[in-house]
Amino acid sequence: MDLRGIGEWFESRLQLGSLYRTTAGHPIPRNSASWWYVFGSATLVCFVLQIVTGICLALVYVPSADEAWTSLEFLNYQQSLGWFLRAVHFWGSNVMVALMTVHMIQVFLMGAHKYPRELTWVIGCVLFIATIGMAFTGQVMRFDQDAYWGLGIGVAIMARIPIVGTALVDLILAGPIIGAETLSRFFTLHVFVVPGLIIAFVTVHLRLVLKRGINEFPVRGKGVVPEEYDEEYAALIEKEGIPFFPDGVDKDIVFSAAVIVAILFCAAIFGPAGPNGEPDPTLIDTVPRPDFYFLSLFAVLALLPPQIETFVLVYVMPVAILLLFLIPFIAGKGAKHPADRPIAVLGVVLICTTISTLAWLGISSPWSPHMDAWSGEPTPVAYVEERSPLELQGAVLIQARQCRNCHALGGRGGQRGPALDDVATRLTADQLTRQILQGGGNMPAYGKHLSPDETTALVAFLRTMRPIGVPGAR
Ligand code: HEC
Repeated sequence: MDLRGIGEWFESRLQLGSLYRTTAGHPIPRNSASWWYVFGSATLVCFVLQIVTGICLALVYVPSADEAWTSLEFLNYQQSLGWFLRAVHFWGSNVMVALMTVHMIQVFLMGAHKYPRELTWVIGCVLFIATIGMAFTGQVMRFDQDAYWGLGIGVAIMARIPIVGTALVDLILAGPIIGAETLSRFFTLHVFVVPGLIIAFVTVHLRLVLKRGINEFPVRGKGVVPEEYDEEYAALIEKEGIPFFPDGVDKDIVFSAAVIVAILFCAAIFGPAGPNGEPDPTLIDTVPRPDFYFLSLFAVLALLPPQIETFVLVYVMPVAILLLFLIPFIAGKGAKHPADRPIAVLGVVLICTTISTLAWLGISSPWSPHMDAWSGEPTPVAYVEERSPLELQGAVLIQARQCRNCHALGGRGGQRGPALDDVATRLTADQLTRQILQGGGNMPAYGKHLSPDETTALVAFLRTMRPIGVPGAR
């Protein structure tokens, strides 16, 4: 049997020829083989890179709260090229989120979400959220200070969802506080659940791209009329269609290769992220920073007055996300060219400006704990007079655990949390205990870092924090 015969033997069984004609070889409009259309494929290439580097990392990483941090240090300093692998995975994730965002903006500006590609957009939105989910769960994998704080704030947001909030937090954290089991949950999400979802949805996304065709390059003054579109598109493909592979793929290849080179370059020059500091809620003099895609959310949390924070997070954000999904159903017809859609362009500019301004505020940090009250500052004398030994021990703990970096006493201290001078008028002993053990609302949970006796002492002391003659909260 000659080579050709062998080829035919396989072909008659696998039938790759027809697979090729309906997939890689499917015709696309000549004018959509444009530099504008390279971001989607590059995002997919990044995803593949993440899978490959992720599998390699999983060979060494230990998903346990005790050892995660150490295993990352091992990768950084002992495993040969381990640091580079971590760096590629980190930079790959940043670049993937960035490219996906650009892809989405480009699709929107070119009107590619309009008839008949509404479902492609919707699935794209699912992929967007899943990818952000990967970024968030990935940040937790580092299990360092940033991860601990990022997660603390993430679940604090979730806890505010009415009715199901607490149950959700329990489900995510595997308990009321961030503990040993939490990391297993996030590892499973990061390595199995979310990537599985992404692969499934990418498959559907690509099938839709194949079946409904790639958007033709928009033409000024020409809009989508659903009744006529399919015929027009078929005619266009008939007249000037080229097979995606090999004729229309060159720019995608060049761009994706450039992206990979850029990732490897950043990884080599800037190295991996963290892990910075073992997680410890009592050490807040690190300035925790989320990865860049969450900076704007952090800024929102920090800047909004507490009264409307919950409203914005629990109601406005979901509505905004829902609107994103609904775009093709709100504006699924008509003009495609950006020059014919001033409002759409203005919307994109507005959203981009808002998000980058917020991200900038997140970096320049108006929200981090105030450090004008240094941890060493003793509890004011007025608050320790005539206190019992147990209460005095609590006063010492307030000092030793640096609570005043965020809480003022006698007008001195951080502003991140409420002043504690009259906290006993607001909270009962149970509520105080819960706040200290579980944290929440931007306060870290101290559950793992205080012994039961210490908690009792703290609560006993805080229960004395009320003006003379005013009864404690009941
Ligand atoms: C990183 C900053 C930070 C640190 C450190 C911190 N807290 Fe808090 N704390 C907060 C924030 C923010 C809130 C408000 C939570 C909310 O809005 O639900 C808060 C709320 C509280 C409350 C409830 C106050 C009220 O009026 O509702 C108590 C009690 C409390 N913290 C005690 C402590 C104790 C004790 C410590 C030290 C062991 C501590 N905090 C350390 C940020 C911090």
